[in-house]
Amino acid sequence: MKDFISALPKAELHLHIEGSFEPELMFEIAQRNQIEIPYKTIDEVKKAYQFSCLQDFLDIYYAGAGVLIHEKDFYDLAMAYYQKCYENNVIHTEIMFDPQTHTERGIAFETVINGLQKARLDAKEKWGINSLFIMSYLRHLSEESAFETLKQSLPYKDLITSVGLDSSEMGNPPTKFKNVFEASIKEGYIPVAHAGEEGPAEYIWEAIDILKVARIDHGNRCLEDENLVQEIVKKDLALTVCPLSNLELRNTDVMTKHPLKKLLDKGIKATVNSDDPAYFGGYMNANFEAVQEALKLSKEDIITLVKNSFNYSFATDDQKKSYL
Ligand code: HPA
Ligand code: ZN
Repeated sequence: MKDFISALPKAELHLHIEGSFEPELMFEIAQRNQIEIPYKTIDEVKKAYQFSCLQDFLDIYYAGAGVLIHEKDFYDLAMAYYQKCYENNVIHTEIMFDPQTHTERGIAFETVINGLQKARLDAKEKWGINSLFIMSYLRHLSEESAFETLKQSLPYKDLITSVGLDSSEMGNPPTKFKNVFEASIKEGYIPVAHAGEEGPAEYIWEAIDILKVARIDHGNRCLEDENLVQEIVKKDLALTVCPLSNLELRNTDVMTKHPLKKLLDKGIKATVNSDDPAYFGGYMNANFEAVQEALKLSKEDIITLVKNSFNYSFATDDQKKSYL
């Protein structure tokens, strides 16, 4: 099964580039930028990666991203992730980045996007990997700050396909971002949002009805509301599910209780993704392996999941034809 999974060409639809920051590279970039980090060894870093909830993780994730200063830092970060894509047979990836994590620290939007874009071109040339970018607004910040980010993105509009919504979910419902999503859609960005990871089913309803999302990131908690499940099926919305993330952030107690199979059985177009692989212990193959083993997924289930990722990606029709 392991060989079967790794041999399949795959697409990834839920990946935070800042969450692919491996400790080794973090040390290297911290050193060259002469920034102190609160760990002396890689072992110490790995020990700190024990989370009891989303916020626990986010505090460490934002601190780690704080060493990224120069365009080359963002380039190196992205190239390291693309290398993992190559190793995991991921041929198409939709990468989220959090501009505000950097602009709030005084790093220019253009520094971030230029580093990512150079890596995208090099990864395409070196490994043939297709990718697109999802600019995610941080939901713990104000809608006004998201509007500022939208404005900063406009000169680079052609490089960005989609807008997303991430960070601390509880207490920051999708409704808070109604206006900025409306404006983002007008600019041509495709809307997606994290919803129902920690937050209630109500937040998934809001993401659908108010933000008009084309895909739901996580969405696990839709299973608490049968009407919502029916709505997701009717609207043909895919869910970008992240098994190792759910386990590490304690949204799933044990992998054998992971909701992935239930979602598929309900007719929902679920996909498998790595979310923040440097923090949650594995890239795409590891996510597939963990959930396959725990839920005893068949080869047909795996193929369904992989096909869902390609079908519900934002790839062009020509790209989709070439993938499937
Ligand atoms: N959830 C919410 N925000 C995030 C995540 C996540 O899993 N990863 C990075 N930002
Ligand atoms: Zn995420």
